[in-house]
Amino acid sequence: MADREQWISRRGFILATIGSAVGIGNIWRFSYVAGENGGAAFLLIYIFCVALIGLPLVIAELAMGRRGQGDAVAAFTIGGRGWPWVGWMCVGGAAIILSYYTVIAGWALKYFAGAATGSLWTAAGEGFGGYFRKFIANLGEPVAWQAVILGATMFVVAGGVARGIELFNRWVMPLLALLLVGLAVYALTLPNSMGGVRFLFAPDWAAFARPQVWAAAMGQAFFSLGVGMAIFVTYGSYMPREFSLPVSALAVVVGDTLFAIVAGLAIFPGVFAFGIDPASGPELAFITLPQVFLRMPGGIIAGIVFFFLLSAAALTSMVSLLEVPVSMAMHRLGMRRWPATAMFGVIIFIIGVPSAMSFGALSHIRFNGGGILDTIDAAVSNILLPLGGILIALFAGWRLGRAEVLKEADMEDGALGRVWLWLVRIVAPAAVLLILLRKLLGA
Ligand code: PFF
Repeated sequence: MADREQWISRRGFILATIGSAVGIGNIWRFSYVAGENGGAAFLLIYIFCVALIGLPLVIAELAMGRRGQGDAVAAFTIGGRGWPWVGWMCVGGAAIILSYYTVIAGWALKYFAGAATGSLWTAAGEGFGGYFRKFIANLGEPVAWQAVILGATMFVVAGGVARGIELFNRWVMPLLALLLVGLAVYALTLPNSMGGVRFLFAPDWAAFARPQVWAAAMGQAFFSLGVGMAIFVTYGSYMPREFSLPVSALAVVVGDTLFAIVAGLAIFPGVFAFGIDPASGPELAFITLPQVFLRMPGGIIAGIVFFFLLSAAALTSMVSLLEVPVSMAMHRLGMRRWPATAMFGVIIFIIGVPSAMSFGALSHIRFNGGGILDTIDAAVSNILLPLGGILIALFAGWRLGRAEVLKEADMEDGALGRVWLWLVRIVAPAAVLLILLRKLLGA
């Protein structure tokens, strides 16, 4: 495709890619998964997984994408045989992830609107727990917010790679970083905030011996980076030859990890300052934090900023998830960008409706005790993303020739390339497989 779209600037590409990685996973999911799995010990294991598995996979995905110069399926076609199916799995997987991710993003947007207009704070009388549960059980409201934030995502994607996705991220990502740092600095000035810092940085050594903590850290690493669903393959396909691939990948991985840590510093000090239980599960953001904000001096502003951050970070990730099927439709079905965006936007909205209703009208549908949204979320982070990660690692490591893949990854000579290849060929697939099998066998 001669007229394939490209990123205009290296900075824009890196910001868009960090925008894809940074999302609800960093701000909301990281905090509660860390809270449930031993705080600082979890953080160390997490960094280990990100460095040895996440980073090599991001490099592999970007290299495959730039090499293929097409959609997720095109990146695998040279492998022949069943390989293109892996590309299709990624396209379908990205659509499924987006369908339920949009629902949570919609909750965040509703809370942002509520915090800004004040209706969230007046609801405090009935208790934030009741408020949240009433909202998600409502028939129409979660679906309406789901539609609004998906519409915004479609608007950005329809604008194109450079004039939509890149431009949007160039503005939003620096703003998010600034606001998050501001929120963390503010939270750290609260009296008794040090309990939260200790929680995040003082290791509980016993957690290292618990296999579930390792599994949780790996699941979180995949989800937070967004690796394993060909998102970086798609973004990599718009990457000009002259951008250095390992440097870009490193910036993304470091940026994503820093966002998660600073988000932890924005969240836990407040939670501890008011003596609230940090291991509050998924309701941390929507029930615990509003309580914290209400007690902080100036907390209303902090609350508005927090829910803005959560919605905007979700939006930049949703854009990348939508781009995977849109790029497929453009490349493979010859569609133009906006009809492709409209078509997949509608399909993804419809697939997401059962998730949006899974705490209300459809709350009776349960799998192993979990509702629809929770079940899809668990299947995605425990099975789908790791499976995609293994297949991508095997493809880049073994199916593409050694010389070719090193050239495509801009690491032709030197020890760095050898280490990377070893991680992609052996360490990443073996480690992920081990954890995946344990999970599947219920050990
Ligand atoms: N990385 C995004 C986050 O941290 O919220 C979400 C995400 C994107 C997850 C893409 C999975 C994925 F394939």
